[in-house]
Amino acid sequence: MNGGRTIQTKGGVVEILDQTLLPFETTFRRIETAEQMAEAIRVMRVRGAPLIGVAGAFGVALALKSDASDANLARACELLGATRPTAVNLRRRIDELRRELTTVRPAERFTRAYARAQAISDEEATLSRRIGEHGAELIRAAHRRTGRAVNVLTHCNAGWLATVDWGTALAPIYVAHGEGVPVHVWVDETRPRNQGYLTAYELSQERVPHTVIADNTGGHLMQHGRVDLCIVGTDRTTAAGDVCNKVGTYLKALAAHDNGVPFYVAAPESSIDWSISHGREIPIEERGAEELERIRGLDASGQVLEVRLPASAFANFAFDVTPARLVTGLITERGLCPASREGLRSLFPEHAR
Ligand code: MRU
Repeated sequence: MNGGRTIQTKGGVVEILDQTLLPFETTFRRIETAEQMAEAIRVMRVRGAPLIGVAGAFGVALALKSDASDANLARACELLGATRPTAVNLRRRIDELRRELTTVRPAERFTRAYARAQAISDEEATLSRRIGEHGAELIRAAHRRTGRAVNVLTHCNAGWLATVDWGTALAPIYVAHGEGVPVHVWVDETRPRNQGYLTAYELSQERVPHTVIADNTGGHLMQHGRVDLCIVGTDRTTAAGDVCNKVGTYLKALAAHDNGVPFYVAAPESSIDWSISHGREIPIEERGAEELERIRGLDASGQVLEVRLPASAFANFAFDVTPARLVTGLITERGLCPASREGLRSLFPEHAR
């Protein structure tokens, strides 16, 4: 997209777009070791399920540059895999790479791992683009039905910042917008990390009309017919179609259900955990209180300013589970399907057990 890829490689060096500085500053940061990559994932310099999977794979490769032993491979996989618990992409990508590398001689491991990480990155970009093509039909159809700009509500950031390129939930919007279909996006602010401002940043870059709303506004807009469809991303989808996404997603799905608004989840196969069936099996990340307590913005002179909110106790649950029954459909790289075991099996028969 206009912003380029969120993770880039130049002659063996990995650079990430540091999302902790956005939307105030656009800076790429060199990552040279697995430890630096682990820190970047933990503090969310890189974030979003597909992107942290790719970052994890590059982190493993970087670890092998100086020491490609079995012991160091195991250590790096543990270090990187422990950074964030909810998005399954991270574990899946690291485990896939580790399995492949155990059959490779140590002398060849760095080259193989680096090439594999690059291939995973390219693959995620392709998957996102396909999700965009499949999901765009929902927006075209809504436009044909209403004859006016389609209002899509989204939560968190599931665009190119959260992936490598295109995005998941935002990809259908980019494809439809690129075709000239009029679309307007309601962007949930997404406290406490305010990923909604990342979404607004992306949408501005792509010139997609949008409006940021406080997190509790969606229900009101749906009651008044001002949302045609919701599209969100997912950090882990179960084999039976429950989805786990940024905290607050569940409440939007409930409001959508109550108001007859279609609620779609853009779900690449890389975010599906085929080993579990129920959302309650998904580990929900709890992050530090400081994320709720401190808030950043610009002061009157345009300088970034951080202020503290007054309270003595905070709880910061980062994700919640939306049961499959509240999901109208999943948008995958292979097409749309019902959020159910049968639906997923119809598109991914190789995972039917
Ligand atoms: O905590 P974050 O910012 O990594 O959470 C990201 C989300 O919840 C996204 O919606 C999700 O990863 C879907 S991604 C394309």
